[in-house]
This record gives sequence, structure tokens and C-alpha cells, in this order.
Amino acid sequence: MTTSNQTERPAATDRQTAEDPHLRRGPRGHPLLPGGYGRSTYYTGAPSPYAICGTGYLVTDDRGRELIDANNNFTALIHGNAHPEIVEAATKALSEGASWGIPNLYEWDLAELLLARLPQLDQVRFANSGTEAVMSAIRIARASTGRERVIVTRGGYHGTSEVALVPGGPGYTRGVTRGVVKDVTTVPLNDIASLREAVEADASGYAAIILDLLPNRAGLLSVSEPFVREARQLATRHGIVLIIDETISLRLGHGGASGECGVSPDLLTTGKLIGGGLPVGAVVGLEALMRETDPTRPGSLPYGGTFSGNPVSMAAGAAALRLYPADEVERLNRLGDAARETLNARVADAGWEVRGRGSLIRAVPVGAEKVDEATQYRLWWESYERGLLGSPANLLSLSTPMDQGAVDDIVERLADAVLATAA
Ligand SMILES: Cc1ncc(COP(=O)(O)O)c(C=O)c1O
Repeated sequence: MTTSNQTERPAATDRQTAEDPHLRRGPRGHPLLPGGYGRSTYYTGAPSPYAICGTGYLVTDDRGRELIDANNNFTALIHGNAHPEIVEAATKALSEGASWGIPNLYEWDLAELLLARLPQLDQVRFANSGTEAVMSAIRIARASTGRERVIVTRGGYHGTSEVALVPGGPGYTRGVTRGVVKDVTTVPLNDIASLREAVEADASGYAAIILDLLPNRAGLLSVSEPFVREARQLATRHGIVLIIDETISLRLGHGGASGECGVSPDLLTTGKLIGGGLPVGAVVGLEALMRETDPTRPGSLPYGGTFSGNPVSMAAGAAALRLYPADEVERLNRLGDAARETLNARVADAGWEVRGRGSLIRAVPVGAEKVDEATQYRLWWESYERGLLGSPANLLSLSTPMDQGAVDDIVERLADAVLATAA
């Protein structure tokens, strides 16, 4: 296997830890990280391998295995691992000073690149994650409307802020106050009548409708265009802010998934790919709303973040966006579309289907909205054993170093893994 951006890489063994990190304990005998994991989203039901290094679309783990990286840090690595131009841009910014307490020029560069792709919007505020971006967008919507309630779609995932946890259902809202839960109305995906009914029941109470056009936690089912249009119309009619959360879906079009379906949000939240692999988030929006965070205006919302707009993430993100012009977006989308078609033919008899759009791919049992964790983990391990790294929720994403040969490899390995999981 070769990659188009192969870089000089230290041998995996040079960087391996001598011992299983699980054996390293704190002074009182506990694993250093709760449960032995740095994120609960890493969990795959059994102790997972550690990543040691990566280049292009390959990652090497602590057992010395080379895997096709279709996890891409949960879709963030649109250019795969250690893309030379991104490494160079981030290294240059880092060498100039990691971050400062006065504005830097890199954030202007990334803002300009983002707005060139989203010309219907006016301004950008950077954050450090998609979670933070969504949290801020909700606050902007509430401040500008003077309202508190929010509508989301069932099963959607918008990060781990309190409001964003509510659509996940009761399993996600432990530790969230009843007041927060009460302020969030959840409607079934693509159910226009329920959306209309929810809005019209309290039209002057809602600050925002939040949509992810391809929600992975809800089974990677596409939100239908009529549903998005209805949300747009209801929002406009009732003075509600339409937030489209493109933390993942921005990769699906040059102007994101919303650009593809021709519906313009009032605020768009994003993250992942626009940091080139480094921490990032952004709210992109209409000036009439973004002015809520304008510090020159009396009474504006405090908007901070010690690392928001830091030069290293901004420089890496700008390089990533420059490397992802419209023809690359389309090339990756075409590779993904063809992959899903082949995969669907391969797994149909086993009672599975392969969903997604463009460069996002997910295998699920036919018709499933929510896949049980045991099945998700089984597929993760079956894939892993075949040298394919996905996300624990089985979302796969393509990256630009991948060519037809790499995608064919993914198809082969995933099809085999699905058949083994279904057996
Ligand atoms: C649609 C969506 N919104 C928000 C987030 C949160 O982003 P982050 O993990 O950067 O906080 C995610 C993360 O996967 C997401 O998929």
C-alpha cells in the first residue's frame, strides 16, 4: 500500500511504550485515566490498541500493526495523518509562538477561507471544539431572540454541552439539570408534521432549531430536503434561529451539506476538518446574530477561550481547507458513493446495509436506527482484525490521500467484517 503524501516516519517500535499504560497507576492505585480511557468515545468493549504514529491513510498501533485509517479521528483528518503541508503550516505557526494574548493574523486567514465557502454568511467566531461551537451558537440564538427553548432531532449528537446531550435520550442526561432537559424539545428525524406541531405549540418560546443533516448517532440517515426546508420556513416565519451543525458534514460539499441542499442557516457550527487535525470549532453566521458577540457593542456576550483562534490550529486549518477544493470534495464523494454501492451488494444477503453520503460510510443492520453497542463493537473488532480502523460507532470516513485502490481495500475489509459480524 502506498499513500500520496507518504512522509518520513520513525519506525513504530522506536516510539512504543515499554509497558501497557493500563499498568501505570496513580499514587492511590487507580488507572491514571478513568476506566483506562482518555475519552469514553474510544471505548470498544475491550482494551483497545494504542495509536503510535500515522502517515497518509495508514496508522500504526502499539502492536506494530499497520491499519487503514478510516476513523480519521472521528472524521477530522480529511487529509489523513501528518500531511506534509499541514505539518509545515502548523510547525511554522508553533515556531513563531504557540499562542498570544492579542489577536493574530492566522484567524483572519481561516475566517476568509471559510466565508469564501459559505458566502451566504457574514462572520466567524472560533472555538476549540464542535461542542463549544454549538454551545456558543445556542447562547447567541438565545441572546438575540430573548427566548430559551431549543428544538433538536431525536438521536442527534451535537457534542457534550448540556443542551446537546438531551437528544441522546435518558442515558445521556445524567448530570444534566431538569431545567435544561425541559428547555429542549426532541422531534423524530424527517417527521415534518411533528416538527411543525412542536414549533406551533410554542412558536414564541423557541430560540433555535438545530439540525445535523447526516446524524451519525441516529444511524447516519440523511435528513430529507423537505424536512430541512420546512425547518427553514418555520424558523423564518417565527423568528427562530436555524442552526445547522456541520461539525462532520462540512466535508460533504464545498459549501458543506447545507450548501449542497441549498438551505442557508442563520448560524452554522463546524469543527473537525477546519483544524487540519488540531483542536478547533467555529460558529459562522449572519452579522445580525454574530454582533451579539461584538465586544465593541455595549452588553455583548462574553466570548473567550484561551486557545480560541490559536495560530497553530488556524494555520493547520487554513492549509487543510486550501487542500480541499471543490474537485477534491467531489472526488472523495464519488469514491464513497461507489464504495457504498459495492458494499450494499456484498452485505445485503446478510441483512445489513451500508448508509451514508459522499465520503461518510456506515454499515448497519437493515433498517436500524439505533444499533446496540455489542454489535457496533463486534464490527469494530472484526474490522480491526482485518486491518481497518473505523470509529467505535462504525462510522468510516475517507481522506484525500486515498485513491481507488485504497477504497477498494476498505470495501473488501469492511464487507468481510460485516459478514463475520452478521454470522
Ligand atoms: C454533529 C456534531 N456536532 C458536534 C460535535 C462535537 O464536536 P467535538 O467532538 O469537536 O466537540 C460532533 C462530534 O462528533 C458532531 O458530530
